[in-house]
Amino acid sequence: MPPKDERNDFEWLSDRIKYLEPEEDIISCDKTCYHVGMWSPLKTVLLSYYYAIFTDIASKHTDNMIYIDLLAGSGIVNINGTDSKIIGSPLVAVYFARHPFSKMFLAESNESSREALEKRLQIVMQKQDLDYQNIVGKIYPNAFTATQAAIKYMNDKVRNHNGVLNLCLVDYEGFNEVPFDLIKKISKFHGDTIINFQTHQIARILTNKNSDLLTSFLGTDEWKHISSDNYRDTLQLYQNQLKKEDRPIFEAVEINSETAYYYHLIFACRATAKGSQWMKAIRRIKPKIESSNARTVKEIYNIIKGNQSQLTDF
Ligand SMILES: C[S@@+](CC[C@H](N)C(=O)[O-])C[C@H]1O[C@@H](n2cnc3c(N)ncnc32)[C@H](O)[C@@H]1O
Repeated sequence: MPPKDERNDFEWLSDRIKYLEPEEDIISCDKTCYHVGMWSPLKTVLLSYYYAIFTDIASKHTDNMIYIDLLAGSGIVNINGTDSKIIGSPLVAVYFARHPFSKMFLAESNESSREALEKRLQIVMQKQDLDYQNIVGKIYPNAFTATQAAIKYMNDKVRNHNGVLNLCLVDYEGFNEVPFDLIKKISKFHGDTIINFQTHQIARILTNKNSDLLTSFLGTDEWKHISSDNYRDTLQLYQNQLKKEDRPIFEAVEINSETAYYYHLIFACRATAKGSQWMKAIRRIKPKIESSNARTVKEIYNIIKGNQSQLTDF
């Protein structure tokens, strides 16, 4: 039996957030950073947790795990109004994978972010003795071309009877960056899908029944039957959509700001003979994440930076 974790939820979260702090050389190699709200580390903690468990378990079934990140960012995010920084999703995939991904298909449309991400990945991958050229090669300028490349790679492997498992993240800020159609194409292959679903923001868009935006994002126009008062029903609709694409196992974790704004990080995967072993892990940590919000993260940073005593100091 693993040793019992004696930390309370706050201590657990503090430790996980500390692990996300970037090393000085990847901060200083480029000034481009993506800016995020104080709640964002809650999402990145979840990703780091999931990537570790996914790669641990998946590596027992295949030696070919690939990572697809369609909205990859610049490798580092800066928390608005502070000088605190955490690593972005592609770096999480390098640092937290228990066994390295054999290929990473990354897309970032902003040129300076793309260049910054490339520099940062080269630094961290070199330190880990991973071959950047072979694993990443290039960062694609849009989600569409990255998806095409990933699909070509997976098709070639399937043709050669070489099993591939993919982990695909779509870290939306809105609804127009990646159509559901691309997610559908990737879901034809074995793997898991993680979606940043902007639950609170969707209420505003639901009022315009003539918009094509949500039809493209959700892959159906059934949203037209949902009123903006019942905007959370779109989450159920999205779950149904993923289910049709062979992602029947679903969990959505709420990420809360300090205000009315919140979103869900959705984890969706295929059913396997043993069920989803890594989804159990997400269900275990879901209450710790959902009982926290931007204020909890702020308190953690205050303690890390020495501005506030820990509760345990009293
Ligand atoms: C929410 S951020 C991603 C943050 C990143 N996942 C992280 O953890 O640091 C979304 C990113 O997607 C990029 N983007 C927007 N539309 C895109 C598209 N169609 N293809 C590729 N990148 C896009 C934006 O420039 C932005 O950097």
